[in-house]
This record gives sequence, C-alpha cells and structure tokens, in this order.
Amino acid sequence: MGAILRTENINAGYGKLQILFDVSVDFEENGITAIVGPNGSGKSTLLKTIMGFTRIYSGKVYFEDRDITGKPPHAVTKMGISYLPQVGNVFTTLTVYENLRLAGYTLDESELNDRMEQVLTFFPVLKDYMEKKVGRLSGGERQMVAMGMALIRNPKVMLFDEPSANLAPILAKKVVGEVKRLRDELGITIVIVEQIVKLALEIAEEAYLLVSGSVRYSGSAKELLNHPDFGKMYLGIV
Ligand SMILES: Nc1ncnc2c1ncn2[C@@H]1O[C@H](COP(=O)(O)OP(=O)(O)OP(=O)(O)O)[C@@H](O)[C@H]1O
Ligand SMILES: [Mg+2]
Repeated sequence: MGAILRTENINAGYGKLQILFDVSVDFEENGITAIVGPNGSGKSTLLKTIMGFTRIYSGKVYFEDRDITGKPPHAVTKMGISYLPQVGNVFTTLTVYENLRLAGYTLDESELNDRMEQVLTFFPVLKDYMEKKVGRLSGGERQMVAMGMALIRNPKVMLFDEPSANLAPILAKKVVGEVKRLRDELGITIVIVEQIVKLALEIAEEAYLLVSGSVRYSGSAKELLNHPDFGKMYLGIV
C-alpha cells in the first residue's frame, strides 16, 4: 500500500515567521492518521501547508508520488485532497442544498447529480435539511454539511481540522464516528487533527505528536494513547 500523501523535511510558516521545523509525515492509503499536540504547536499549519496556504521555505510535499510542493489550494483540491478547516467551513446564509451545489461548482451537471446522490446516501439525514439555511442547523448538523461538501468532490484524502470543535461531547463522538465511517465505507484516507485527543487516537491507526512545530512522536496511535509520559505532558490524558 504505502503512503498516498507525505511531507519530507518541511520548513514552513507565515511570511518570515517559521512555524514548522523539518516536519516529515506520511499518511497511509486508506488509513486514519491523527495529528495531536498542544495549542499552537502547528497542527493546523501542517494541514494548511499541505493545501498550499502557507510559505514553504524548504522540503517537499508528495501526493501519489507526485511533487505538489507549493501548488495552490485549488489545484491541490482538484487533485483529490479535501480540507475541512477549523472554522468557517460552511455558508450559513445559504441552504444545505446551495452549500452542496457550491462545493461541487467545478463538476458538470450530471456528475454533480451523481455525487449529490452519493452524499445523500452516505448522510441520509441531510435529505431532511436540504432547504434549510445552514445557520439554523445545530453544530453537529453543520459538520455533516461540511463533510458532505468535501465528499461531493469525490476526494481520495480528507484533512480534518478539529471536526468536533465547539460540539457537546456526545455530538463530538458522533462526528468523529462519521469521520471513521468515511474511511470504513468509502475507503477515503483520513488525516484528523482533534482537540479531543482520546477520540482521535481511538479511531486512528497511526499518530503524530507535534510540539513547537516539530514531530515529537510518530507511530501507533494506540501506543501514544497509552504512552506513560506524552499523554500527561502534552495531551491532557490522565
Ligand atoms: N495566519 C497566521 N499568521 C501568522 N501566524 C500564524 C497564523 N496562523 C497561525 N499562526 C501561528 O502559528 C503557530 C501555530 O498555529 P497553529 O494554528 O498551526 O497551531 P495548532 O496546533 O493548530 O493550535 P490549536 O490547537 O490552538 O488549533 C501559532 O503560534 C500561531 O499563532
Ligand atoms: Mg489548529
């Protein structure tokens, strides 16, 4: 199988402000990889770097063994990588249907209809909300819309930045369960940054711990979850 997406010794940041230091990660095809670490450690920056939103000083990003370093976000998205940002991933004044259509704007009509059907088969609950404004949905429902919007583009890889942010614990668990289902049922490779570290490490096979922009641990998610030091030191696991 091997890695579908990887970075090699990435040094990156915003303008002159370096945030990531020599970060090498690889994401197994059809796998779930969790990225965890304290606030400000560079988790979101790593996802943004893969998507082409940051400045890369040196290092490489490879997708399916193609060098995509420095490619702009729309090109990366088109290649099959979907990014679900930490905030602002839906248009609240538009309906669910309009959000989904907008997300699939590059598709032709027949492909869009096919994709729409697959999204609704995967998230049947969205059918009931199609004409509702997203701003009127609950946080959990909004996350389903955001996932549906990513799914409509038929991605091979989905990068999630804190999908459970601002959700009640029970909803957080549900949303993370849906993330796992994307891999289990559709075979999509998942990378997940998650504030509820335990939830992410429980669904992931592999994990990276970022501290101050460097990889401090890489390996089995289960091992990290049970690690005698890291859990307490960095992740609030007791
Ligand atoms: N657009 C930006 N311009 C300048 N600095 C930024 C920008 N975005 C983030 N940073 C800085 O980069 C560092 C890493 O931020 P990042 O958002 O990647 O951390 P994180 O691990 O995702 O944190 P959190 O758990 O709080 O989401 C922080 O010091 C942050 O202030
Ligand atoms: Mg973040």
